Amino acid sequence: MRNRQIVLVELPKRKLGTTHFRLVEGAVPEPKGGEVLLRVRLISLDAANRAWMQGATYRPAIEAGSVMAGGAIAEVVKSCTPQFVVGDLVFADTGWQDYAVLPSKALTKVPRVEPITHLLSVYGIAGLTAYFGLLRIGRPQAGETIVVSAAAGSVGSFVGQIGKIKGCRVIGIAGGPAKCEWLVRELGFDTAVDYKTGSVYALLRNAAPDGIDVYFDNVGGDILEASLPLMRMRGRIVCCGAVSAYDGVAPAAGPRGIPGFIVVKRLLMQGFIVTDYFSERQEAITELRRWVERGQLKIEEDVIEGLENTPNALIGLLAGENRGKRMMRVSQ
Ligand SMILES: NC(=O)c1ccc[n+]([C@@H]2O[C@H](COP(=O)([O-])OP(=O)(O)OC[C@H]3O[C@@H](n4cnc5c(N)ncnc54)[C@H](OP(=O)(O)O)[C@@H]3O)[C@@H](O)[C@H]2O)c1
Repeated sequence: MRNRQIVLVELPKRKLGTTHFRLVEGAVPEPKGGEVLLRVRLISLDAANRAWMQGATYRPAIEAGSVMAGGAIAEVVKSCTPQFVVGDLVFADTGWQDYAVLPSKALTKVPRVEPITHLLSVYGIAGLTAYFGLLRIGRPQAGETIVVSAAAGSVGSFVGQIGKIKGCRVIGIAGGPAKCEWLVRELGFDTAVDYKTGSVYALLRNAAPDGIDVYFDNVGGDILEASLPLMRMRGRIVCCGAVSAYDGVAPAAGPRGIPGFIVVKRLLMQGFIVTDYFSERQEAITELRRWVERGQLKIEEDVIEGLENTPNALIGLLAGENRGKRMMRVSQ
């Protein structure tokens, strides 16, 4: 048994490329007291993987020369702790490799749902981020207008659908006509704006002539700036992430116009990390499951086979290749 690992050999200064990674092979590590050996089954690909290369965030920065970090669903294959038995499924930051040894405190036990891919999409970080960000910070009321960016991605596609469940008018922002059509036809968004076709401000003003009550911001930058003048009085901006700033040189400072737009309109602009709400996780999963069972929440998963393809899959996600939740299948 060998352990393949994908090492981040160099931190990217501009765009992430395949040359920043190297596949190495070594022995499978042995767990000691309090640890388990995990076989990685599914690796979650997240826009944030790229942000971690820029420096410390809500987690330490990734160092050049280390196994690329990443969350995964993994199975316990050897246990040196009474807390886990062989066959348990866990969510953990195993990194991009076939096997990992981790202490029991670094693991979250997860139930065996079918298919297990749902543990990374709707019942994982993506679904929970959409749920808590929209409902706890956005606090949408029926009849209000929600705008969500990176709308065809894993978090965004759930945000828009939950907005519809709550009786709101939902506008998605995504790249390209195919994604925009999919949001409306398949996911039930009211309309979608292709940010690659022109002035986002003009497109959004046209789509939301009465203004925006909740803007769920996954991208930051120009799209955040375009949404600010369109916010309605006492609107809420959910600061979830800033994909536009992750893959390249540091962006220009912004947004501009804060006092005029935010102060006068009494806007709430709040950041969050999904783990802030983990004490309410079980209740959230129960509600998400109910929506899935009733057919109100569709789950789009983009599963790519093979550990060796992980670097290309992340590069593709940052370029907008994915629809819904992208993940790697490493083993069955
Ligand atoms: N706060 C939290 O706890 C938390 C947790 C999880 C994720 N997040 C955040 O959620 C956001 C979405 O992450 P994800 O992992 O779910 O990825 P994702 O939305 O599945 O994929 C990223 C998408 O971003 C879009 N994109 C890339 N560059 C862009 C740009 N310059 N402008 C506009 N859109 C761009 C691409 O779609 P297009 O084709 O539409 O461009 C791409 O598909 C990220 O900001 C991430 O950091 C936050």
